[in-house]
Amino acid sequence: MSTASFYDLCRRRRDVRAEFTGAPIGDDVLHRVLSAAHAAPSVGLSQPWDFVLVRDEATRRRFRDHVLAERDTFAAQLDGERATTFSRIKVEGILSSTLSIVVTYDPRRGSPAVLGRHAIADAGLYSVCLAIQNLWLAATAEDLGVGWVSFYREDFLRELLGIPAAVRPVAWLCVGPVTHLEQVPDLERHGWRERLPLEAVVHAERYPS
Ligand SMILES: Cc1cc2nc3c(=O)[nH]c(=O)nc-3n(C[C@H](O)[C@H](O)[C@H](O)COP(=O)(O)O)c2cc1C
Repeated sequence: MSTASFYDLCRRRRDVRAEFTGAPIGDDVLHRVLSAAHAAPSVGLSQPWDFVLVRDEATRRRFRDHVLAERDTFAAQLDGERATTFSRIKVEGILSSTLSIVVTYDPRRGSPAVLGRHAIADAGLYSVCLAIQNLWLAATAEDLGVGWVSFYREDFLRELLGIPAAVRPVAWLCVGPVTHLEQVPDLERHGWRERLPLEAVVHAERYPS
């Protein structure tokens, strides 16, 4: 891959909700995408992630019902223009995507002496997020869409998938072939929020006061 195509991949990656086709994903493609996730850096080489592949329609339907209830909970906190704008925004593609991948964090893996985590417990969680980002970019390179769903209560998802209490579900990812990837993030297209220019977040020497 050329340097230019890598940057293009980063630019093309989108969070997908409405564009899934439901077409199958080849086993070889899925294996490559999961291998990319598993190649992520991790604090103390703890590799604290697991990937639960959820295909069962009944399980996905139960999760989708929970997500829609949580969507209502969030919507009830909004007033006026925010409420109207949010009402137009889709927050999941759980049933229309081909596959769901639930990514979890197990803080026990590699413990008790996780090299580099003694001062910052969250470093384990950061590692899982890097695996998710690798997965997301690899899926984009394979022309698949990914949609991260976080409108859920962790205990609900633990119960649904039999995840132990010590393990944190970090993401429910909807994955699959798409008709296309939008060029502009959905939240920007629907007027929820705009992307910041790079200059607004790069600072010299000290955090801005
Ligand atoms: C931690 C995390 C949680 C997210 N949760 C949701 C979600 O529940 N529903 C949703 O539609 N998008 C979700 N997103 C997607 C973001 O809205 C999206 O990444 C952002 O608007 C930028 O759009 P882009 O990813 O297409 O560039 C989530 C993204 C992240 C990183």
